[in-house]
Amino acid sequence: MKKIIIGCDHAAYDMKLEVIEHLKARGYDVTDVGCDSSESVHYPVYALAVAEKVASGEFEKGILICGTGIGMSIAANKVKGIRAAVCENEFSTEMTRAHNDANILCMGARVIDTDKAIKLTDIFLDTAFMGDKHLTRINMIKDIENK
Ligand code: RB5
Repeated sequence: MKKIIIGCDHAAYDMKLEVIEHLKARGYDVTDVGCDSSESVHYPVYALAVAEKVASGEFEKGILICGTGIGMSIAANKVKGIRAAVCENEFSTEMTRAHNDANILCMGARVIDTDKAIKLTDIFLDTAFMGDKHLTRINMIKDIENK
C-alpha cells in the first residue's frame, strides 16, 4: 500500500482533514502527526515530525500545511535531505516535483482553498522527477548540505 505522512498547525487543521480524506480515497495509508484541533500550536513541532520520517526514508513523501506554508517549509528544510516546497499553484507544484524532486509539499490554508490544496496534492503525488541535469543540481544542493 502507498503511504504518506502529513502534519499541520492550528491554521490548517480543517484543510488537513479534507486532504487526508482525499489521500485515503486515493488508496494511501496516511500517517498523521498532528495537530489534532484548531487550538494554537507551534508549527516547527509538526514540520520536524514529518521531515525526520521523510529524511530517514520511512516515508518517500510528506505534506505540511500551516497558514502560509512558509513556516513549515523553513523548518522542514533545516532537516538534511529534505526538499520542502511551498506551492500555491499547479505549475509550481509540477515543477517542484519534476525539477527539484521535492519530497515535502507545503501549503497555506490561509492562501489557497481546499479544492486547490487537493489539486496540488494530486500533482505532487503524480509528477515524476525528471532526473538528468536536474539530478546534477540536486546533487549540488546535497553538496551544500554537506559543507
Ligand atoms: C500561525 O498563526 C501562522 O504563523 C502559521 O500557521 C504559519 O503561517 C507560519 O508560517
